Amino acid sequence: LAQNYTERYRPQFHFTPAKNWMNDPNGLIYHEGTYHLFYQHNPGGISWGAMSWGHATSSDLVHWEHQPVALLARGYPDNITEMFFSGTAVFDAQNTSGFGTDDKAPLVAMYTSHYPLAQTLPSGKTVDANQQSQSIAYSLDDGMTWTTYDSVNPVILNPPEEYSDQIHDFRDPAVFWHEETQRWVSVMSLPGLRKLLIYTSFNLKDWELVSEFGPVNAVGGVWECPSMFPLPLDGGEELKWVVQISLNPGGPAGNTGSGTQYVVGHFDGKTFTPDANSVTQSNWVDWGPDFYAALTFGGLPVEDRVDIAWMTNLRYGGATPTDPWRSAFTVPRRLSLKTINGRATLTQEPILGEADYSSTHWDTLPAGSTKLDFTEKALDIVLSFSESESTQFGVIVRASSDLSEQTQVGYDFEKKEVFVNRTVSGVSGFDDTFAGVFSAPLDSIESIEGKAAFRVLVDWSSVEVFGGAGEVTLASLIFPSDESSDVYIFSTGGSTNDVEVKTASIESVWVT
Ligand code: FRU
Repeated sequence: LAQNYTERYRPQFHFTPAKNWMNDPNGLIYHEGTYHLFYQHNPGGISWGAMSWGHATSSDLVHWEHQPVALLARGYPDNITEMFFSGTAVFDAQNTSGFGTDDKAPLVAMYTSHYPLAQTLPSGKTVDANQQSQSIAYSLDDGMTWTTYDSVNPVILNPPEEYSDQIHDFRDPAVFWHEETQRWVSVMSLPGLRKLLIYTSFNLKDWELVSEFGPVNAVGGVWECPSMFPLPLDGGEELKWVVQISLNPGGPAGNTGSGTQYVVGHFDGKTFTPDANSVTQSNWVDWGPDFYAALTFGGLPVEDRVDIAWMTNLRYGGATPTDPWRSAFTVPRRLSLKTINGRATLTQEPILGEADYSSTHWDTLPAGSTKLDFTEKALDIVLSFSESESTQFGVIVRASSDLSEQTQVGYDFEKKEVFVNRTVSGVSGFDDTFAGVFSAPLDSIESIEGKAAFRVLVDWSSVEVFGGAGEVTLASLIFPSDESSDVYIFSTGGSTNDVEVKTASIESVWVT
């Protein structure tokens, strides 16, 4: 039974909880034909609080169905002794953990236990107030209900001795099976030290520290939510490894906000060795202001990596003007690794449902703004164009009839940048950096039959931009008035040639 959410600002094709607070995606896994999306969730309110794992499922990554909370903060609501912070899930096909039965292999989740109170745990281990340790839970019903491993949890009580001053700041295990070494690998972070710790295990229960990575590249903030995964280079046989790390602050949109970076290299089952040319500059997974805590799905073939991020910025994630839910995820993005200017570069392509595109062509789009015949507020817009006299070309979305409210997405031919201008996009007073212009460098954006192109996904409270062949993206929240639904294309400083605009409205994604 389809249910449409129609509240002001409610994303139509981006995942949101039905109500209450959400932050990081957790435990993303494709298992037995179903995509499981778990997420940091406070079931009791619209602000960060009693952190639990919310849950939703999908058969196609497009339509989502809400499920009951998977891991509810222990002692919820009045006497919370353990919160379930971010982590991941794996299918333990060979039952290495022994949690399975004769006819059922388990799913195992590894997450950070955050203990608000000093206590002795059921396992007999003692923890300090606000200690963070790594624990596991398993599911024998394909992810619907979970049992925490209370007789032993946490399975990693503390970081190694030399980091004993970091016991309150040790989190976000990302676990995966490493086929060559026949071991589980888990990457977690010491946020304050900008360091990742890599552990291995044969059974998901006993873990050994095997290496460290970092700090490198962007270190202007704490490192959180690390993950590591292989991707084929240029679609061929060679596999490269990608480490994805969120940091706050120190992101791409100026040093005061959060963001997500990646490093490409080699992983031998123990040590991650970055490519020399991947540690010479910050590589942003997304250049917009609103992309954090990204995580990819486990359980898919190596060439099929799908990333989802929490679409907000930690500067104002707790203050965005939505109700009765807070926060959305980006659309799922299929990742590839392509050699661009000599460097292995992540490229991304959005995963959307079937859409009915219509297309308009201008041999010469004159300078100025040209109104398009659209009033839908959830749109996929693909723009392509050729060499031009103009200085900027792009699209204006969510515009009021007098254009006093609008969001611009365009390409600047002189700066060679894709940009999002949300200076007059609507409500922005909750943060003094929100009303800004954000850009991503793009020298050559030839992607559609040799023509320059970029793609803009417009939802009721965001724009997501994919530049060129997806080698730069910008996720950006906006909070326009309901009435602001006009769409224009614009050419600045002269005409733009050979313009093609392909548009489709995007349907709502809710199953229930
Ligand atoms: C990132 C984060 C994680 C932590 C979780 C708690 O947004 O701080 O490091 O596990 O949120 O909700």
